[in-house]
Amino acid sequence: MASSVPPEVTKKSKNRTTSFKSVKTLSESPDLTSIPFSYKFTTNPHDKNEIVADPDDNDPIPVIDYSLLATDTPDQRAKTIRDIGKACEEWGFFMLINHFVSKSLVEKMVDQVFAFFNLREEEKQEYAGKKVVDPIRYGTSFNASEDRVLFWRDFVKIIVHPEFHSPVKPSGFRETSEEYSRRTWKLGRELLKGISESLGLELNYIDRTMNLDSGLQMLAANLYPPCPQPEFAMGMPPHSDHGLLNLLIQNGVSGLQVLHKGKWINVSSTSNCFLVLVSDHLEIMSNGKYKSVVHRAVVSNGATRMSLATVIAPSLETVVEPASELLDNESNPAAYVGMKHIDYMELQRSNQLYGKSVLNKVKI
Ligand code: OGA
Ligand code: NI
Repeated sequence: MASSVPPEVTKKSKNRTTSFKSVKTLSESPDLTSIPFSYKFTTNPHDKNEIVADPDDNDPIPVIDYSLLATDTPDQRAKTIRDIGKACEEWGFFMLINHFVSKSLVEKMVDQVFAFFNLREEEKQEYAGKKVVDPIRYGTSFNASEDRVLFWRDFVKIIVHPEFHSPVKPSGFRETSEEYSRRTWKLGRELLKGISESLGLELNYIDRTMNLDSGLQMLAANLYPPCPQPEFAMGMPPHSDHGLLNLLIQNGVSGLQVLHKGKWINVSSTSNCFLVLVSDHLEIMSNGKYKSVVHRAVVSNGATRMSLATVIAPSLETVVEPASELLDNESNPAAYVGMKHIDYMELQRSNQLYGKSVLNKVKI
């Protein structure tokens, strides 16, 4: 069972060697047979007592067929909405199939993200931003100056809505990510209509109250190069995401685990499906009926893994609080205080990433 406190970690070292700027350059150094101390958890980051399992046939990962939500057949739509609600309540997570984002577009996007990470380090460093709202922010670990142990991960985060941004290189990135962003934004908004209804609210409730016309959409790409000692390193620690939903794809190399009923469940990639994660702001607005899913990324010494998260989130100025329509003074009082989205992001950024530590700060 994952606890809410970080595993025992070494003290942040003041004179940490930072001669490399990314895990990618580090992993490409010749004769790398062990990981630098700064990446090493002194205890196994995958706690010995925790349970890691593959999905259980008796409690399978929920699969939602998006085409049934978009159908004209009211019965099928109603059933799909119920299924989505159940998945959000019981797992905080589901797989989405038949989503109308073409396989070729997803593949092109994956190729472009790889091409970005394959740029020369100096080219990527141009985007080494500092603030959470920098339109393009390239970096390594989570918050390398704060993390007590570094994570085996490089990332680039790009804000694509309400204003679209794109790195200039690699060539073709802009065109592909523009189309990918447009389609996934539309998909996310449609899903949130179904989710509004599943909560007993009107179709456009989330769209309207979260100000999605100026909502935040961010592409967050993660690269996990092969790691010579995967048992001592962590790609991404247990955490939940800010925003309403995260639509995640991966490149065919597994590594994502979600926490479900006290067990870490391995989520492998199936072709052309989105992994949909309930994120913190959906938990807050639903007053805890839907729980954001705690998840992490483990690394391996095999192939490079890449994942691309598309964050569908309220506008930065929206104060996110439990929907008053769902509250009742006696039986269901507000369980979270309202907080502006941008303040929430800054809080997440200024803290160590661990479990639901940020969400717990707004819990009453
Ligand atoms: C994320 C994330 C997990 C993964 O980007 O927030 O949790 O599988 N990624 O890489
Ligand atoms: Ni995440």
